[in-house]
Amino acid sequence: MLYGWHASCYLGAEYAEKVKLMLFMFRYEREVSLKIRKIGVIGAGAMGQGIAQIAAQAGINVYLYDVEPSIATQAVEQLKKIWLRQIERKRMSKEQVASALSYLEVVNNLEGIASADLVIEAIVEDLEVKRSVFRALERVVSNSCILASNTSSLSITEIAKACDKPSRVVGFHFFNPVPLMPVVEVIDGLRTDPKVCEALVKLSQKLGHTAVRAKDMPGFIVNHAGRAMNTEGLHIVQEGVATFPQVDAIVREQAGFRMGPFELMDLTGLDVSHPVMESIYHQFYQEPRFRPSPLTAVRFAGGLLGKKTGEGFYTYQNGQKLVQHEAEISPLDPNLKVWIAPYHELGYRRALNCVRQLGVEVISSSQPPKDALIIMTPFGEDLSTAILETSLDPMRTVALDTMFGLEKGRRRVLMSSLLSDKSWLDKAQALFASDGSPVTIISDSAGFVAQRLVAMIVNIAAGIAQQGIATAQDINIAASLGLGYPEGGPLAIGDKLGSELILKVLTEMQRITGDMRYRPSLWLKRRVQLGLPLGFENR
Ligand code: NAI
Repeated sequence: MLYGWHASCYLGAEYAEKVKLMLFMFRYEREVSLKIRKIGVIGAGAMGQGIAQIAAQAGINVYLYDVEPSIATQAVEQLKKIWLRQIERKRMSKEQVASALSYLEVVNNLEGIASADLVIEAIVEDLEVKRSVFRALERVVSNSCILASNTSSLSITEIAKACDKPSRVVGFHFFNPVPLMPVVEVIDGLRTDPKVCEALVKLSQKLGHTAVRAKDMPGFIVNHAGRAMNTEGLHIVQEGVATFPQVDAIVREQAGFRMGPFELMDLTGLDVSHPVMESIYHQFYQEPRFRPSPLTAVRFAGGLLGKKTGEGFYTYQNGQKLVQHEAEISPLDPNLKVWIAPYHELGYRRALNCVRQLGVEVISSSQPPKDALIIMTPFGEDLSTAILETSLDPMRTVALDTMFGLEKGRRRVLMSSLLSDKSWLDKAQALFASDGSPVTIISDSAGFVAQRLVAMIVNIAAGIAQQGIATAQDINIAASLGLGYPEGGPLAIGDKLGSELILKVLTEMQRITGDMRYRPSLWLKRRVQLGLPLGFENR
């Protein structure tokens, strides 16, 4: 104020405003460190070591501290081995490794990181321990130092409450293993200064990571968006619609995901996945979309945690999953006639093209002849409802999932009803497998396996956008880099498959099951009503 007053007296009001602005910017530079040259990493476990690695590789000074000094020393030894392997694989030169090592320093107390521009905390996931570390940090670091937490489940705002200067406290959530997971969530606590987040977004680029911005809400983006896959997979199995391996095969080979939910949970371990499922569900006050399943509760309690215990949804021998081979499919009946119900226009067209390409006669009469296989193509309905609504012969009627296309090689999924006749099911399976494509038959379900799972993934992503937790673009980036989702992320998948189809699947699922879990997000519904892509951002 004093400088401002002097300037306005001697130099005129307009110039004075400029000077005031410059002084404000100068003060700001000192308030938070916008140029990050030195980083303190607290906690040298899996995450701290990974963060230290990418920072040192990017030419940033890293001070690594762990409450157990031997763990920090071991982390550096481990990094030396990793870098040696990088030299052997010609991914790094000797000079690059020597340079990275020169940026790395183990310190034995918090005072050792006093000159850092940024401290990233990656210690045990315990609110009180984290808050005491943040309080201690404020006593040693400069006023301009940014304080970041790598927490995956705690509130940044709550951690910041312990600090004198909560505006410099921010979430910086990396994923494991840090060097191989090129995305990081930058989380704005309610009191975080946006400039602090912007500085971390810039730093992320330097570290070779893509930053996404998220609000301080349970699960941030990735752990929130990831709820649909596992919980819906569990509900499908719990309802007796399909087995674990069937669900996984469908998710991979029909919907195009890298892994199915049970393979993923086995890899992560139920000791991690099950508490996260419960915690997000409770943090959102029993939101039905996140409802977990007792299937994991029993396995978690019984120690069937996944790959790490050799027993999960699958059994493992020497780290390898034991796979049961699918049963042989009978050959195609040369006299087979097919009638396709004009139940849904797009489904009808896709089924018709596919059956014709398989060289089988499609009867075009308005009603099915008595000796023809009947095919229905529902979106979101179960077969029983479709049969009730069309009065077709339940013994010969089989449903076909056309949502993801039926091209050769993509897994095709058929749905039976309680009255489906085994011989007609076999004929249908033989037909759709006749070009060598894999085929799965599931039991009656509102929405097939992939329809349910993908519609839920899109719906939850729409919910994240609606709550303003992140932009549509960042939701897509976070889920494709953090969860490995195909097609550029969940909202992009929705646009590709057709958001109106996703909305129809959800609406029908809710109509048939009566479960609020499937209620469509209004964010999704409005975009469909107005003909806007899911990538459309609010202004
Ligand atoms: P970790 O158990 O491998 O390492 C934690 C380290 O912190 C240990 O070496 C421990 O000695 C040290 N430590 C504990 N209290 C300390 C203190 N007061 N001061 C200094 N050091 C202390 O844990 P991990 O897996 O590296 O996780 C660290 C943080 O990152 C947690 O908040 C976790 O939720 C989060 N996170 C973990 C991910 C994972 O997949 N492991 C993924 C993303 C975030």
